[in-house]
Order: sequence, then structure tokens, then C-alpha cells
Amino acid sequence: MLVTPSWTSPEGRTLFLGAATVLISFISYFFLNLAPSKKISGKAARATRLREAFDNIEKRTSPSEKGTKNDASSSQSLKVKELWIYPIKSLRGCSVPRAMLTNEGFYLDRRFMLLKKENAGKPSNMHVSHHGSMTLFHPRILGSKILVVYRQPGTSEPSGHVLELDLEPSIDGLETLDVIMHGSPSKAYNMGSDCNSWFSERFGFDVVLAFWGGNTRLVLGNQPTKPTSSAIRNRLSQIPVVGAVFQDPQNDKIAFNDCAPYLVINQKSVDNVSTRLPDGMDMDLSKFRANIVVSSPSPTASPSLKEWDEDFWRTIEFPATNSRIILTGNCGRCPSLNVNYKTGTHAKSKEDEADGGVQVLRLLQKDRRVDKGVKYSPIFGRYGFVASGGEGQVVRVGDEVKVVEKNEEHTTFYWPELSTA
Ligand SMILES: *[C@@H]1O[C@H](CO)[C@@H](O)[C@H](O)[C@H]1NC(C)=O
Repeated sequence: MLVTPSWTSPEGRTLFLGAATVLISFISYFFLNLAPSKKISGKAARATRLREAFDNIEKRTSPSEKGTKNDASSSQSLKVKELWIYPIKSLRGCSVPRAMLTNEGFYLDRRFMLLKKENAGKPSNMHVSHHGSMTLFHPRILGSKILVVYRQPGTSEPSGHVLELDLEPSIDGLETLDVIMHGSPSKAYNMGSDCNSWFSERFGFDVVLAFWGGNTRLVLGNQPTKPTSSAIRNRLSQIPVVGAVFQDPQNDKIAFNDCAPYLVINQKSVDNVSTRLPDGMDMDLSKFRANIVVSSPSPTASPSLKEWDEDFWRTIEFPATNSRIILTGNCGRCPSLNVNYKTGTHAKSKEDEADGGVQVLRLLQKDRRVDKGVKYSPIFGRYGFVASGGEGQVVRVGDEVKVVEKNEEHTTFYWPELSTA
């Protein structure tokens, strides 16, 4: 005879407790494995963990399989239009269908950079604003490699052989280099003579390709935990102990990104810049060197996204993974916007427009100098940091983006030596 245990019988209770124990251990196992940032100690272990997470992206559930959340909140609902990664700082970027969040920026973003060897003294950091020809180099991520193609000025065909780099080269035996960017130092690794001569031949001067090797730089400017008033912040940061209190140890490190791990821009603002260009020309948004391009979910969506809305965004959320980016400061623009990406030269006058070169920076000066922290630079886009728990999550083109927090006023950019207030 079959006995069905009832919950009040001793057998029933044992069975219930047993099942609950199994369920609880199952749930904890599942959640511990979903929180990659919590258990990592040591640079190498962390690198391995992130690499595994990255390799396994395809195996993870895609947001569409999870079903959509029905959230009736009033936050503005937008979408991810494009995602960009710049494996080698200041060269062309790679438009990608998905990218993995890490505290130091998207996985693989700005993990390499170039330095120019000087006759005397230390090598100097290369930036697209000073070396327009960096835009003639086109990196592409393929499997576990970065392939770099060079195109002669004005051409669209690759010229000469393609440079092949490991996404994560071994640093064993590599010479170390001191890199100081915007006053924030880090140790990097010299990728060696094969890579260096490939770049040197094309630039026409000696350069060094540096790899970060997991070594971070400290963020000296705006961070999620630092007060937003520049006056208070400036005073506090001059007092070392108090300044350190506002340093957020989880979220104050970057690779070779300039000032913050992420840069977010608004497609509507790109469209506004297009209207300032000569007839028939559209703004090439890759010049803004953003990581995330946000747009309206559809042209007719309401409430619709407007140009410069992003100036006031404080927190954006990707509901598909519950991850957030906290936007802390504005991006003050430099002459890199004037580089003609086809020729690698700076547009210097009206005559350059015939050739596709426009002084975009000048076109923004009139009404986009909206941050007193960088009072001489027009603002385009916002710098951001991943909120805690976001590391290891994947953002995909087409994902929903919600603006969940806004500031009432423009924030004030701060970075020692760079800011003006
Ligand atoms: C572009 O933005 C400026 C500044 O907000 C505004 O005055 C102008 O009307 C916008 N242009 C278009 C075509 O919407």
C-alpha cells in the first residue's frame, strides 16, 4: 500500500526539510556563481575569471528568453543603439553587438595604448588629438585575437600586412613601462620589437605598444562616491585623509581610458551636430569615441528623447541584467573632433571641408560650453562607472536602457590639472 506523507506527520516534515535544504543549496550555488566580482582575489585570478565569463557569454540566457518585465514606473525608457570597444586607445574603435561590463570599462576596452619614443626623456602618450594618423589604424576583434589593419590616407583598402595580437598576451618576460596619464600613474608592459616596428614603420617615428597587464590607474576626478559640488570636493581632496574617504575602492580604477571607465552619448545629440555640418554631411559618431550610444526605442516613441537630455542623466539602467551605470561627469571635448578620419589630418580651415574635414570643435563652442569645470571645452557625452554588482553582466545592442535618476543641474567636471573650476 502506498502511504502519502502529510506535512503534519514526522515523515512529511523530514521530507519537507530535506527538499528545502536541497533547494537552498541550489539557489546559493547559482547566485554565488552569478556574482563574479565578489570572490575574486588577485589580479591574475580576476583576469581568468573575467575571461571565462567573456568566453561563456554565448552560453548564457539572452534577455529575450527571460521575457520582458512589465515596469510601470515613470523612468524614461530608451535603447542601446550601438556599443563600442577601443582595444588600442586612440586607434579606430570596434562596433560590437554585445559587451561585458567590468569595473575598469567594457572588457577589452583600452587595454593597449601607444607611446611615442622621444629623443630625450620618457616616451610620450599618444592621443588622437595630437596624432590624427592614429585613425588610419583599424583594429578588429576575431576570436582570441586583435587584428590591426592599416589604410593609407584617403584609401579604403588595407595596405601591407595585418598585425595580429593576442587579446590577453602573456606578460612573462616583457619589459615594464611607467605610463602616467593625466597625472595618474600605472605600470604597463612593452609588447616588444615586432609590434613596435610594425607601428613605427607606419607612423614614421618610433613608437612602443603598451599592454596594461591588469594594472589599473586611479581615477583622480569625479567618481560616484565623491561630492558633486566642485568647491567642496576641491577643498576635501587637498586634505589627503579626507580625500581618501571619498575614493571608492571598488570603483576608482581604469585602464588607459582618459577619465572614467565608460562614456555614454545620445544619438539625438549626434543628430543635432549633423545639422551644424555642411549640407549633405552627417556627423560620424565614432569621433566621439563613446562606449554606449543611447537612442529612442523608435522614432515615434513617447516621451521622446531630446538632444542634450544626457547632460542631466545621473543613473542609467539595463533592466535585462539589472545593471546600472552611474554617470558622474561631462566629457569636455578636444581637437580630436577635428580629425578627418579618412586622411588622418586635422581640419584647419573652411577649405578642408571639400575633403570631408570639418572643425567640429568650433561648431560646438557657441552653445555647448555648459560645464564650468571645463569652461573652455564644449561638452558632448557623460562619463560613467558601473554600479556595484554589474561586473560580468553583458549589455547588448537593442537592450532597453532606462534613465532612472537625473540631476537638476549640470554636474561640474573635476580632475586635478584638467578642470578649470
Ligand atoms: C541643436 O541644439 C541647439 C542647442 O540646444 C539648439 O539651439 C538647436 O535648435 C538644435 N538644432 C536643431 C536642428 O534642433
